[in-house]
Amino acid sequence: MLKTLLYICVNIFGVIAFVWKFVIRCKLNMKGTMRYLAGIAGQSGYGSKSTADQVTQDCSSLHPNLTAIVTGATSGIGAETARVLAKRGVRVVIPARNLRKAAQVKENIQKEHPKAEIIVLEIDLSSFASIKKFCSEFLSLDIPLNILINNAGKFSQKLEFSEDKFEMTFATNYLGHFLLTELLLEKLIETARQTGVQGRIVNVSSVIHTWVKKDNFSFNSMLQPKHYNATRAYAQSKLANIMHTKELAKQMKAIDANVTINAVHPGIVKTGIIRDHKGIITDSMFFIASKLLKTTSQGASTTCYVALSSKTEGVTGKYFVDCNESRCSMLANDDSEAHKLWKQTRALVYKRLRVQLRP
Ligand SMILES: NC(=O)c1ccc[n+]([C@@H]2O[C@H](COP(=O)([O-])OP(=O)(O)OC[C@H]3O[C@@H](n4cnc5c(N)ncnc54)[C@H](OP(=O)(O)O)[C@@H]3O)[C@@H](O)[C@H]2O)c1
Repeated sequence: MLKTLLYICVNIFGVIAFVWKFVIRCKLNMKGTMRYLAGIAGQSGYGSKSTADQVTQDCSSLHPNLTAIVTGATSGIGAETARVLAKRGVRVVIPARNLRKAAQVKENIQKEHPKAEIIVLEIDLSSFASIKKFCSEFLSLDIPLNILINNAGKFSQKLEFSEDKFEMTFATNYLGHFLLTELLLEKLIETARQTGVQGRIVNVSSVIHTWVKKDNFSFNSMLQPKHYNATRAYAQSKLANIMHTKELAKQMKAIDANVTINAVHPGIVKTGIIRDHKGIITDSMFFIASKLLKTTSQGASTTCYVALSSKTEGVTGKYFVDCNESRCSMLANDDSEAHKLWKQTRALVYKRLRVQLRP
């Protein structure tokens, strides 16, 4: 009895300490917190409580026949993003490692919107070979590509390595999406050139990127960490997503390509991302923080807003939270670090795959 009581007390203390640490580290000020809790709209006219349906309601100016690829659409925020895009008439390609789950998502969307066009193709974002195969299958369909949403995410609790021998969280969240984007970029640029409709890339990141310090951001140790810390690895991968966004936005501007790229933090949503972290601590944390959580539809709103809204036309290299442009960490804004990361990643991909990448 005493032992159980002690166990519960230790856990409650742990949860309070974690939530407190989260609040402090994310630098949530009072005004920002109140704005978040009340769902007060920002400049865009939307806020934390806006849903993906609401932010895409005015799609009268939306170009017909858009095609989007949404990674990680077999569950959580990605499935909702795919549903809302399809509802707005966008043809949605779902790359998935679990084809059964993807078929179920497709069926659910088509039950609600019988005319929705959904294409399911296989991909494992932690494998370079699988990404390459997906891209050649997609490109052989010879359909346009207007929107790429890099949403899939992994938060590996223990140290695991991908098929290519890289740490699994970094491999899935960052390296996989980097390669996918590189292999599809020409298609996005070409579609935008032919149709006159701006191409858009959305990288789904997280506010947790602010936790990473410069000392903890070394490429080789992210690939093969000696001392693994799950939260740190996840935060590093999400920081890398923003740096990728910033660097690629500069490159697209330099070649005058009509393609924008932005990063988003979806908000905190109880989804499958914490499936490896089940237990009393995680459950109690979500219970205590339940007032701060978003619904899945609120979680998908920022992605859908950045991907479809006419208000984000021409906006590139930015970071969005609750459907409004927001500030990311100093490190995420460091152009030279972003360029260094891009060069290192590109060299690694080339060495491993020997694929022809952009100059
Ligand atoms: N939920 C939050 O509170 C939160 C907060 C900040 C940022 N985010 C970000 O939001 C994004 C969506 O996450 P979520 O919360 O919706 O999580 P989720 O429900 O776990 O969805 C993750 C998706 O990624 C897919 N995925 C994982 N590894 C993959 C791989 N190797 N190859 C292909 N697909 C893979 C999963 O596919 P399977 O179905 O096959 O597993 C699933 O569809 C992630 O980038 C996450 O980092 C989430």
